[in-house]
Amino acid sequence: KKVVLAYSGGLDTSIIIPWLKENYNNCEVIAVSGDVGQGTELDGLEEKAIKTGASKLIIADLKEEFIQEYVYPTVQAGAIYENRYMLGTSFARPIIAKRIAEIALAEGADAICHGCTGKGNDQVRFELAIKAFAPEMAIIAPWREWDIKSRDEEIDYAEAHNIPLKINRETNYSKDKNIWHLSHEGLDLEDPANEPQYEKKGFLEMGVSPIDAPDKPTYITLHFEKGVPTQLDGKTLNGVEMVSALNKLGGENGIGLADLVENRLVGMKSRGVYETPGGAILYHAHEVLETITLDKETARIKQYLGIKFADIVYNGQWYTPLREALTAFVDKTQERVTGDVKLKLYKGNIINAGVTSPYTLYDEEVATFDEDEVYNQADAAGFINLFGLPIKVRAQLDKKRNNK
Ligand code: ARG
Ligand code: SIN
Repeated sequence: KKVVLAYSGGLDTSIIIPWLKENYNNCEVIAVSGDVGQGTELDGLEEKAIKTGASKLIIADLKEEFIQEYVYPTVQAGAIYENRYMLGTSFARPIIAKRIAEIALAEGADAICHGCTGKGNDQVRFELAIKAFAPEMAIIAPWREWDIKSRDEEIDYAEAHNIPLKINRETNYSKDKNIWHLSHEGLDLEDPANEPQYEKKGFLEMGVSPIDAPDKPTYITLHFEKGVPTQLDGKTLNGVEMVSALNKLGGENGIGLADLVENRLVGMKSRGVYETPGGAILYHAHEVLETITLDKETARIKQYLGIKFADIVYNGQWYTPLREALTAFVDKTQERVTGDVKLKLYKGNIINAGVTSPYTLYDEEVATFDEDEVYNQADAAGFINLFGLPIKVRAQLDKKRNNK
């Protein structure tokens, strides 16, 4: 028997290797890590996986594909979950699970195993993607099977099985890191009454609190081609370079912190703190550019659909006909979202500093308060009479009825 394990080297997936061997007939465990930019978390991972009992570790570099095929399309859709969460974990799961499913099929594995708890969103995202690419594959989710009830008990299990751990008992927030974001959940954050310790050393990893950011603003200019950010300050960058550079600039200036209570797919509310420094800048800049390149009605419909798009991403329904159809719509809207956005980054704020586009729909000649040729102010009187007709008719009829 062969099991492919979605492996991160964290607490959950580390103890899963000996647990699988104990509970599934000493099966072979192939560990697979999808590299979506979790950085140093990947250091020493192979040695660790093998020491813990895996037959091998496969690391799949997914970073550029993650940004181009998952992150940018979601930014273009303007999709932000419940107005606050920039979906950092949500869209990383489908791409990782897809690659794991492909590897499991190629290795002739009997099952795929993941370390998500039975209370969260990630289990759903992983398994929906596995179903899309390996519909017959068995799935093992130890958290839904074993007797371990808490992170403390996991640590006991790890110690009993000689698994080396980087964490200690007090500081083990549940974190998920990739090139787009870092999430923090659990411990003191579980009570929404508690303020996150932004200024405490070691809490934030991608940047600083606005309080600790410089008193001097940083200017940047982003160039977009059809909704895709292609240049930063005149330099052409690929997705990984772009997001990394913006993470640094945003992080230094205290940008992109979000503290929210979100509605999980499995019914409960949960509290999380997110760091998305580069992402916050990209969403903002893209939206600014759309204000001058999209017409009003397209922008409205896009805004409604953005809410749905965010739900779809959050719920792990990436590989569905609806998500693909919405992406086709968004792509069409992006044809003229080309231009430059200048921004001022300052102590947690993203301040507009000018926007231009060769396709701008903004016409100063029309908007000006000075006299112009295209807009005849006298036309407004007839427009208001017709636009206001239902209001006037209702008021007149109400008046008549009241006089009876
Ligand atoms: N609540 C966020 C989401 O559902 C973050 C989840 C973080 N996942 C984790 N395994 N720590 O997308
Ligand atoms: C988990 O439960 O595995 C992490 C949190 C989540 O999936 O929402």
